[in-house]
Amino acid sequence: VSLKSYNTFGLPAVAGRLVRITADADVRRLLELPGLGGAPKFVLGGGSNVILTRDMPELVLKVEVKGMRVASETADAFIVEAGGGESWHDLVAWTLDHGLPGLENMALIPGTVGAAPVQNIGAYGLELQDRFDSLDAVDLVTGRSVRLDASQCKFGYRDSIFKQALAGKSLITRVRFRLPRHWQPVLGYLDLERKMAETGNHAPDARTLFDWVCAIRRAKLPDPAVIGNVGSFFKNPLVTAEQCRDIIARDPHVVHYPMDGGGFKLAAGWLIDACGWKGKTVGHAGVYEKQALVLVNRGGAIGSEVQTLARAIQESVYGRFGIRLEIEPVVV
Ligand code: EPU
Repeated sequence: VSLKSYNTFGLPAVAGRLVRITADADVRRLLELPGLGGAPKFVLGGGSNVILTRDMPELVLKVEVKGMRVASETADAFIVEAGGGESWHDLVAWTLDHGLPGLENMALIPGTVGAAPVQNIGAYGLELQDRFDSLDAVDLVTGRSVRLDASQCKFGYRDSIFKQALAGKSLITRVRFRLPRHWQPVLGYLDLERKMAETGNHAPDARTLFDWVCAIRRAKLPDPAVIGNVGSFFKNPLVTAEQCRDIIARDPHVVHYPMDGGGFKLAAGWLIDACGWKGKTVGHAGVYEKQALVLVNRGGAIGSEVQTLARAIQESVYGRFGIRLEIEPVVV
């Protein structure tokens, strides 16, 4: 099976076998099959956070668990449950259509609901963990379904237990979100403040925020349906106050944000841009013209070209700023 249309970077790779999972029981049945049960497995969602550099001898499990509903209500929140195979953006739109705001800052993030907790997706001042209730996952060895709460998921910046101890070991079938009854807009982020100034609307409702976020993203991020990409290719590096001072001394314009605990987060896009990479192309892979943190497929790119470009960027950022950029998507 060609995986080219199953990964948003559009990288060529072939899977020996691809199995569609629509329910927990599908995993259990699969595990009981002689031969397949014990075979190495790889869980694929929307393919929007994976760089394929080789063919896949593993059994590829494509998560297609569907459904969106209000599962329960508490005194201060609605608990919305969605199948791991639903599109993330469709879920955000569905919640707003049902008068359940809370996810709007994360509109238009590519990928599936089941993949969202893996890297604790986030945008414009909100992270998945801020709206997370719990999830159901199936253990890929025992076939047992388990429920994990936020602390068990060990969320971090673009990180969770599913990128660490549970990497490759479980398949997320359903995710539940806790949407506050007394919704407050999450503003703060510079791009949103700009929209408020532009429109004169300083108290946007959820639908307006949704529209703003969609417009901001469309203006500076490439649509994977048109130009292959996986969103931000590197994490924004976290540095100590001392390292930050050192970098400011090298270049006073460096974009940095103070973090809880005294450290700083640097804008990786700015660092890459400062090294002159914006709009550059190496082989068939390139650096997006409007956002240097996004690598793109110029047409016909292969995984190794993306890796070569990524390494060259890492080396030049290290050479100039002494910062090691960490790759954000999962590299296979
Ligand atoms: N910048 C430049 N040049 C560039 C790119 C950025 O100077 O080529 C500067 C911008 O001017 C801005 C700063 O860097 O001052 C930050 O840029 P931006 O607001 O575009 O956000 P980001 O830090 O590059 C992060 C997330 C995005 C998320 C946005 C908005 C990570 C790795 N990326 O990007 O998430 O959409 O903030 O919240 O944390 C993703 O994870 O795939 C992703 C797209």
